[in-house]
Amino acid sequence: MKMLLTLAAVASLAGTNLSRAQQAPEAVRSPIVLTGADMRPATSLNGEWATIVDPYSNGFSSYFRNQKQQAGDTRPIEYDFSKSPTLKVPGDWNTQRDALLYYEGTVWYEREFTYQPKEHTRIFLHIGAANYRSWFWVNGKKVCEHEGGYTSFNCEVTEAIHAGGNFVVAAVDNTRHEDGVPTLKTDWWNYGGLTRAVSLIEVPETFIDQYDVHLARGAGATIEGWVHVVGGEAGAKVEVEIPELAAKTASVAGGDGRAAIHLEVSGLERWSPETPKLYRVKISAGRDSIEDLIGFRTIETRGTEILLNGKPIFLRGVCIHAEAPYRGGRAYSDKDAETLLGWAKELGANYVRLAHYPHDETMLRAADRMGLLVWSENPVYWAIQFDNPKVLAKAEQQLDEEIETSRNHAAIILWSMANETPNNETRTRFIESLASHARELDATRLITAALLVRAEGHTKIVDDPLGKTLDVIGANEYIGWYEQTPEGADTTEWRVAYDKPLIMSEFGGGAKAGLHGAENERWTEEYQADIYRHQLAMFNRIPQLRGLSAWILMDFRSPTRNLAGIQDGFNRKGLISDQGQKKAAFFVLQKAYLDRTVGKAE
Ligand code: GCU
Repeated sequence: MKMLLTLAAVASLAGTNLSRAQQAPEAVRSPIVLTGADMRPATSLNGEWATIVDPYSNGFSSYFRNQKQQAGDTRPIEYDFSKSPTLKVPGDWNTQRDALLYYEGTVWYEREFTYQPKEHTRIFLHIGAANYRSWFWVNGKKVCEHEGGYTSFNCEVTEAIHAGGNFVVAAVDNTRHEDGVPTLKTDWWNYGGLTRAVSLIEVPETFIDQYDVHLARGAGATIEGWVHVVGGEAGAKVEVEIPELAAKTASVAGGDGRAAIHLEVSGLERWSPETPKLYRVKISAGRDSIEDLIGFRTIETRGTEILLNGKPIFLRGVCIHAEAPYRGGRAYSDKDAETLLGWAKELGANYVRLAHYPHDETMLRAADRMGLLVWSENPVYWAIQFDNPKVLAKAEQQLDEEIETSRNHAAIILWSMANETPNNETRTRFIESLASHARELDATRLITAALLVRAEGHTKIVDDPLGKTLDVIGANEYIGWYEQTPEGADTTEWRVAYDKPLIMSEFGGGAKAGLHGAENERWTEEYQADIYRHQLAMFNRIPQLRGLSAWILMDFRSPTRNLAGIQDGFNRKGLISDQGQKKAAFFVLQKAYLDRTVGKAE
C-alpha cells in the first residue's frame, strides 16, 4: 500500500522536528463565540489533566496522537501521557509547580473522557481561556487553534468525537511575542495554561450562537436586541420570554440568521448598584433554548455627566487584576470573584476597572449579582505594534470575543480600547478603528481608554487626540509616587481638552502590608495613605471628574517588581495585600467613599 506520509511524519522519520509552521496544516474550523456559554448545560472537563512540559515545542509532530508503545514497534514512543504528571484545569501552571513559576513555552495537556453524542446535534469544546496560543485535538484529529490569552472560544468537535471513550489533547504556549496583544512587556505575570474552565457543550443542529437583549435608552421600558441562529433558514422562529414580567415576543430570522426582538414591558425594576435586579430570560429557536440572567439598565453620557438609568452617577471605584486572593495565580472561580468584589463593596465602591484584559465570566456574573459597574478592557497595553495590520486583526478578534461573549452583562458599562498607549498618529488610527468596530458590535455602551497625561509645570493636561473618539476619558496619574511628593497634588491643576466625563482610571502608590514608619518614608503604609489623602483633595478640584479607580485593590505578581524584602516579585500598590491584609490607605479611601466626600454626590 502506498504510504502517504504527511510532511510531519516524513520529517519525524528523518529524525528532524519541523516547526509548527512547516508542518502540513490541517484544515480546521476557526473557533466560534457562544454568548452566555456559561449558562448552557455542559459536560465539565475540569480536573486533573496529564501534562508534558515541552520547551522546544518538540511534541507538535506526534503528541496529539496520544500513542502507546506497542510490541514490535520499530521506533520508540518518547512520551506517555498516562505516566506524566498532572496539572489542575482550570489553573495556570506557574503557581502549580515551583519549576514552572517562570516557565515560558509549550505545555501539553491530555485527558480521557467518555461521551454519548445525541443524534442531530453539534458539539463544541468550550475553553474559558488559554494563555497565550493554543491548539486542540480530539481523538488525534485537530479541531482548532486560537491566539489570545483572556477570551473564551469554542472549537467544534462534532466530527472528531465518538460514543464511548475519547481523549482530548491541547498544546498551550505562553511565549510572549512582539506582534502579540499584549506585546512583550506587561506589568503583570504571564500566567500560562488552560487558565479558565473547559467543557463540552452540545447544541441542536440549528442553534443560537449569539444574542443581545438590552433595555433601550429613554424613559420607557422597551427591551430590544437580536438573536442569531446558526443553521436556521430564513424564517426560523425565535422566541424571547421574561416570565417574571409576563412578557414574551416571537420573531423570525432573516437570511443572515438574525432575528430582531422588541418587547414592551411594564413593572420593570431597572438594574443598578443599589438594586442589582436580574431577570431570567428564556431565548429559544427550534429545539435550542438558553436561559440567561440579565439585568436591564441604560448607560449614556450628557455633556460631562455619566447617566445610569437617566440619572448622573459618580463612579467610586478600584482597579482589579485577575489575580487569585491568597493562593495567587490566575483567578477563575466564583470564590475568587466573590472575594475580590466583596472587598470592593467593603471599600464602598460602586464600580471596578477589570484591568487590563477581559476577566472570566465568573467575575462578570458576580458583578451582575453584587451590583458593581464594570470597565472591561481589551489588552492593547503600552507599545504594541500599532503599524502592523496583523496586530490590528488580533486586537479586533479579541475585542469581538470579549463583546460577543459578555454583551448581556448589565454590570459592564464601559468597553476600554487600551491602556497607556504612546500618543502618535499610527496608534490613534489603530485605536479609532477598534473603537468604531466596538460601536458597530455594541451601540449600547460607552467607549473609553486609559490615557497617559502630559504636564506643563504643575498643570496636568489631558489632550491626547484619542479623546476625540472616546465617550469617556480615562486618565492615569501617579503624583506622589512616580512624580512629585504626595503634597504635589495640592498645587496641581487639571486641564481637559474635551467636554466629556473624566475618570481617573489609575492613581496610587506602593506599600508593604505591615511596614510602618513616617509619612515621608516610601513603602510604609503611612506613605501610601498620605498619597491617597492628597489625591482625594485634588480630585474635588476637577469639575468634570465623574469617577475614580485606584490602582489597585490587591497586590499582584509582576516580573518587573524585584525590590527584595518589599516587592519580591509583586506589585505592592494594592490597598490589600495578596494575603488579605488591609493597608492604611484602604481605610482612607473607604472613608471618602462611604462618607461621599469625593466626587459629586449623585
Ligand atoms: C501603569 C499601568 C499598570 C501598572 C501601574 C504601576 O499605569 O497601567 O499596569 O501596574 O501603572 O506602575 O504599578
